[in-house]
Amino acid sequence: IMIPVVCAIAVLCLLPVSRSAPLTCEESVRPLDRLDTRRLEGKWALVAGSLSHPPFLERFKQRDSASINFASTTSDTSISYTRSIRLHDGNCYYASYNITLEGSSFTLDDINITTTFVHTSCHDCILLKFDVESGKRQHVYLFSKRRQLEEMEIEEFRDQAKCLNIPPPVVMDPTKEVCPEQHTTDHKE
Ligand SMILES: *[C@@H]1O[C@H](CO)[C@@H](O)[C@H](O)[C@H]1NC(C)=O
Ligand SMILES: *[C@@H]1O[C@H](CO)[C@@H](O)[C@H](O)[C@H]1NC(C)=O
Repeated sequence: IMIPVVCAIAVLCLLPVSRSAPLTCEESVRPLDRLDTRRLEGKWALVAGSLSHPPFLERFKQRDSASINFASTTSDTSISYTRSIRLHDGNCYYASYNITLEGSSFTLDDINITTTFVHTSCHDCILLKFDVESGKRQHVYLFSKRRQLEEMEIEEFRDQAKCLNIPPPVVMDPTKEVCPEQHTTDHKE
């Protein structure tokens, strides 16, 4: 008696997914059409990432956790953020940036990196693609308000990495603490 009900629910749930055609690579890694800077505000935990250059991918695995914290803004193009990384030794490393968006990208001039907000179907995620040295190397990082995503969401990210021709993403351990917010008054911490 239960089975037809379960099927009905499953079919209803699956319908929107099965109806949409699979995305081409070009579509799946397209930049966000429209970036709402207000939606960025707050802290996002790194859920998974991949880097095209294998030695850097090894170094990436030495992180316990990472996060990115966007300040609130009233501007459509200017925003600041702080990224934090916690290494296995428990130490936190912070860096802050003021950025100006051009469409869904921004460039950090001094280190020659173009960063693009890429489309993702995950509703509380941001996907950042870093093109280093004019695209010679690529890093992609999936951040979320959640620490752990559904397998289907990670699967989408794996497909996107494949499209970009970079190694399969490394998924972060969701049980590792992210760094606390940086004390703006004490930079020695
Ligand atoms: C960002 O801009 C603010 C306000 O202009 C300034 O106080 C801060 O030092 C800047 N931060 C960086 C990392 O450039
Ligand atoms: C950025 O990298 C490109 C290619 O490697 C180079 O031509 C350009 O001069 C660099 N810009 C800066 C500001 O270093």
